[in-house]
Amino acid sequence: MPQELNVVELIRLKRDGGNLTAAQIEELIAAYTAGRVPDYQMSAFVMASFLNGFSSEESAALTEAMLHSGEVLDLSDIPGKKVDKHSTGGVGDKVSIILAPIVAACGVPVPMISGRGLGHTGGTLDKLESIPGFNTGLSIAEYRKQLREIGIVMIGQTEEIAPADRKLYALRDVTATVEFIPFIAASIMSKKLAEGVDALVLDVKCGKGAFMKTTEEAHQLAETLVSIGEAAHTPTLAWVTDMSAPLGRAIGNWPEIEESINCLNGTDVPDLMEVTYTLAAEMIVLGDRAESFDAALVMAKHAVASGQALDKFRQLVFAQGGDVSVIDDPGTRSEQASRDEVVYKGEMKAYVESIDAYELGVASIALGAGRTSKEDEVDPLAGIVLHCQVGDLVRPGDSLATVMASDEEQRVDRMKNIVGNAFSFTPDVLSGRSRLMNRYSDGVWMHQPGSVSV
Ligand code: URA
Repeated sequence: MPQELNVVELIRLKRDGGNLTAAQIEELIAAYTAGRVPDYQMSAFVMASFLNGFSSEESAALTEAMLHSGEVLDLSDIPGKKVDKHSTGGVGDKVSIILAPIVAACGVPVPMISGRGLGHTGGTLDKLESIPGFNTGLSIAEYRKQLREIGIVMIGQTEEIAPADRKLYALRDVTATVEFIPFIAASIMSKKLAEGVDALVLDVKCGKGAFMKTTEEAHQLAETLVSIGEAAHTPTLAWVTDMSAPLGRAIGNWPEIEESINCLNGTDVPDLMEVTYTLAAEMIVLGDRAESFDAALVMAKHAVASGQALDKFRQLVFAQGGDVSVIDDPGTRSEQASRDEVVYKGEMKAYVESIDAYELGVASIALGAGRTSKEDEVDPLAGIVLHCQVGDLVRPGDSLATVMASDEEQRVDRMKNIVGNAFSFTPDVLSGRSRLMNRYSDGVWMHQPGSVSV
């Protein structure tokens, strides 16, 4: 008869710097997923691991245990190479919402399983759910059917797919244990490998607004993620991209959907679209729809210019029960929020030197766009819209940003100063600072500075 799991002993082992066996990790994850280990014990275990480290053997065992905590889907009966993308999390990072319809419009099926907001970062699921009626909780049968019929589906983890990640993710979010490579890698790769993809593109965010603050850490995470993908025989490549300033102009759930719709309509937000098109092109090549990156880039841009990507987004929203009328008029929904402007108070004109993505991420959570406890409801309309980006010239009295929340004017008022403090200024024109864009594939790093400044 198997010995009863002694969770206290496992916590003590990690607290004292020891290593767990694969069998112990498997048992712990299975028991936690089944509700036999309470959150307070799991929190202690996660914090002890965070502080004392996880060996590479433990990390591999954790990924396996989380991957097999539910079903591992087989999508081979659905035609085409299925390709997905995942970001390690950032502020204003709405790339998935723009990219998935672009790639699907180019003929590559995109089965995407995403997460909610985590720490100071936003989550694709919360963003999609800010579209009235949008259902991210499809069953596996519905997920398969939609992928087959329209080539795109975007859902959250279910009881069936990587349920361990769903629970652990929510716990890490509110216990300050997110920024840890073994947990991030296991979280991402367990749900991505469980969704049955043929190839995977990863966007490892780096900088103040990311979980990985330095290029070294981001490279290490990228290499870890890619090696897990390769070990599972799923072609995987990673880009390490800049997250020192927010990506694009909108932060918050509906504000980011609105910006995504505008981009699908052809608005060029250069920093955002550079990352989006780059990752989209990688997916189109991995999906065997183009022979070269450059050809794929042309296809991706054409999908937007021709309206096909926006049509695909409309099909996605309709199929998942969302109100498609908001797509035609996204600005009207935003007008329902209380709002105020953050004004540049300097006496001389100046250039925006930096915009602290972390501070703005935290501010948008405080406005209601994210959670500080597992039970919190998010405010779909809460967020921040920037009116300038790094390098822009501002004059006294210019609005730097609009701060929004559903109905609590007080919240907006309280957060204005914090948002204002996230900006720094310089009298000098900025030059020669390009956004980080490094590519990792087949064990080789390619350092390619982005064309957009930061
Ligand atoms: N994205 C995930 O899915 N999990 C993490 O832990 C971090 C980012």
